[in-house]
Amino acid sequence: MKKCLLVILGLALALSSAFGQQLIGVAMPTQSLQRWNQDGANMKSKLEAKGYKVDLQYANNDINTQIQQLENMITKGAKVLVIASIDGSVLSDVLKKAHDGGIKVIAYDRLIMNTPNCDYYATFDNFKVGVIQGQYIEKALDLKTKKGPFNIELFAGSPDDNNALFFNKGAMSILQSYIDAKKLVVPTKQTEFTTIAIQSWSSEKAQARMDNLIAAKYAGKTKLDAVLSPNDSLAIGIVASLKNAGYGTAKKPYPVLTGQDCDKANVKAMIAGQQSMSVFKDTRTLAAKVVEMVEAIMQGKEAPVNDTKTYNNGVKVVPSFLCDPVFADKNNYKALLVDSGYYTAADLQ
Ligand code: BGC
Repeated sequence: MKKCLLVILGLALALSSAFGQQLIGVAMPTQSLQRWNQDGANMKSKLEAKGYKVDLQYANNDINTQIQQLENMITKGAKVLVIASIDGSVLSDVLKKAHDGGIKVIAYDRLIMNTPNCDYYATFDNFKVGVIQGQYIEKALDLKTKKGPFNIELFAGSPDDNNALFFNKGAMSILQSYIDAKKLVVPTKQTEFTTIAIQSWSSEKAQARMDNLIAAKYAGKTKLDAVLSPNDSLAIGIVASLKNAGYGTAKKPYPVLTGQDCDKANVKAMIAGQQSMSVFKDTRTLAAKVVEMVEAIMQGKEAPVNDTKTYNNGVKVVPSFLCDPVFADKNNYKALLVDSGYYTAADLQ
């Protein structure tokens, strides 16, 4: 029976590749965040439109599940693996297997670390995301002309995600000089990446940390002017904490708060004045670029890249394509998100 099934599976595989239906594996980290659902759906539909068969998997933010899913894709005969990793540093063994089987690997959005077997990387310019956030705070508090001092608290993303470092470096490239000049003050003195990082980009953990910061320094009269949040999932937790602590009134307005992704809930929070801005990374653009990369690889060509310097994964500099992130706030969201067809107006009500 088992033998028979294997023969049928073999025949099906042979037939599908004979008819040009090559298998592409797409591994996404989690369905709990809106963006990855969009990324996965975009990749699947765009690859299918080009005639590929797609194995799309989500790993519930669990490292072993993701490794298992990649093993399965290799067994099923995938030709290319597109991977948005959960922990960028634990895939070396499974990617060695992929490499030995002649399978090419594209790191999707997050760099895969410490392996020679990551062939390409497609992402948004992660440093620039941080710069956009830093510049927003600079402008909102008018740091160039005002003396301050203004109080700020800093958050960073998940320490196992290489992007988190880039976002932080980009933002601090703008903010650090103001902290050095004491125009910006961090009352809790928590500035180290390891101290301010939130594991797994968790909204709950961000909320708990914000609760602690408020209890430590802002229970009395100290004004909180700004919070640097690297993305929207953290911003959701930070807003929840601020709301519970009574922010959002004329006497106690919300601080300037940054984000990234333009998740629906966060665009609504921007419209409601709880979150000041977000960074829009059009997942359609990234998916389209990765599909171009897949096509090039399948035709035995080099994939398109526009950066061969920035993303060293500890073993090599991975040739990358960086898409452009864009500033979003309540003044431009309609043109950016609704008119472009990314969301419907009803999505944001
Ligand atoms: C992505 C962000 C996302 C975060 C949490 C990062 O790697 O670049 O867009 O908000 O992961 O999922």
